[in-house]
Amino acid sequence: MTDKSTQIINSGYSGDSSKLERYHSINPPIYHASTVLFENYAELKASGQGQYDGFTYGTDGSPTQRAFEKAMTELEGGYFSRAFPSGLLAITSTLQGFLECGDHLLICNSVYGPVRRFARNLLEKFGVKVSYFPANVGADIEDYITPETRLILLESPGSNTFEIQDVPAVVKVAKQHGILTAIDNTWATPLFFRPFEHGVDISIHSVTKYISGHSDVLLGSVTVTEACYERFHRLCRALEIFAPQEACYLALRGLKTLKVRLQQHESSALELAMWLQTQAAVEEVLHPALPSHPEHAIWQRDFHGASGIFSFVLKPQYDEAAVARLVDGLQLFGIGYSWGGFKSLVTAGKFAQSDISRYHGRWMVRLNVGLEEVTDLKEDVQQALAKL
Ligand SMILES: Cc1ncc(COP(=O)(O)O)c(C=O)c1O
Repeated sequence: MTDKSTQIINSGYSGDSSKLERYHSINPPIYHASTVLFENYAELKASGQGQYDGFTYGTDGSPTQRAFEKAMTELEGGYFSRAFPSGLLAITSTLQGFLECGDHLLICNSVYGPVRRFARNLLEKFGVKVSYFPANVGADIEDYITPETRLILLESPGSNTFEIQDVPAVVKVAKQHGILTAIDNTWATPLFFRPFEHGVDISIHSVTKYISGHSDVLLGSVTVTEACYERFHRLCRALEIFAPQEACYLALRGLKTLKVRLQQHESSALELAMWLQTQAAVEEVLHPALPSHPEHAIWQRDFHGASGIFSFVLKPQYDEAAVARLVDGLQLFGIGYSWGGFKSLVTAGKFAQSDISRYHGRWMVRLNVGLEEVTDLKEDVQQALAKL
C-alpha cells in the first residue's frame, strides 16, 4: 500500500483508452505544462541527443500552439511559423535572429514606435547599424542600401500614417543585393496581403490585433520561408521562445471568424473615412482604400482588402485643447491603444514619431473602427467634431 502522499502525486491519470480519453473536442485543449513526460528511457535518451521529434519540455509549446502555428503557416503560405508572447517580441526576436554585429538594418520610417526604441537601445549597443527609409519607398530603396545592409524591415501600411510600400519593387532590389526582407503584416492580416507571393522572406503579425480580435490576448507570430527556416529555428531554440497557451487557443479560435469580422471592419471604416473627407475640420484622411491616398494604386494592385484602422489630420487652426474636446466628446469610442478588436477606439496626438514624415508636428486622430453599427459611429463622430 503506497502512502497517501505518494498516492496523491499519482492521482488523476486514468491511463486507459476508454471513450472518455478519446474525447475529440472540435477545438484543441489547452495544456498547462512545464514538464512533459516521456514514455521510456529510449525517448529520454533520444531527446538528450536532439533526436526526439516530440515535445521535450513546456518551452517547446504544446499541441495547441502547434495548431495555431500550422494555421498561420497555411494562411500565410510560408514554410514554418512560431508564436511569440507579443507582436513586439515577434519583431525584436526576429531582428536578433537575423542580424549580427557589423550588420546594417534598414527600417521603414512608419514602423511601430517601440521597434525604434529596441533598435536604438539594444541593436545599436550590439554593433548593428540602423537607419530609416521613407514609408512610401519602392525601387528607390536602392539609395539607402550599404554594403553592410542585411535586412529590410517593412510595415505596410504604417499603423499611424498609413503609407504603403511598393513591396515587389523593394524585394526585387533586396534580392539583387542578397538582402532579406521582413514585413509587419498586421494591418492587412494574412487575408488582405500575401507577403510570400511578393517574395518577402519573413512575415510578422501582432496577433493581438485582428487575428485574436477581442482585445483580450497578447500574441505575436513569425512565418518564414524554407530558406530562412534553419536560422529562424536556431533562434527559437536559443531563446526557448514559447507563447502563452491560452493565447494560442484564443488566436486559433479568432482565425475562424477573421474573415467576417474583417469584412465588417473594412466596410464601416471605409464609410466613416469617406464621410470624414467631407467634414470641414478635416484636412486629410489617411486610409489606403481612398482614391485620394497617395499610394492607393499600389494598395489596389497588391492588397485584397482594407482593415478598419485609419487616421485623419485636423486643419492647422485646431490646437491641443480642441483635440482633447474631440476625443473626450466621443461616446462610443474607447480611448486606448491597440486595434483590431470589436470595440471602436480612438487615440490622438501631435505626430512626432519621425521628423522625415510629412505629418510631423500635425494633430492627428486615429480611429480603430469596431463592430458597432456604422450609423451610430458616424453620429458619434459628428457630435464630437462639433465640439472642436
Ligand atoms: C503595427 C504593429 N505592429 C506590432 C505591434 C506590437 O504588437 P503587440 O501589442 O502584440 O506587442 C503593434 C501594436 O500596437 C502594432 O501596431
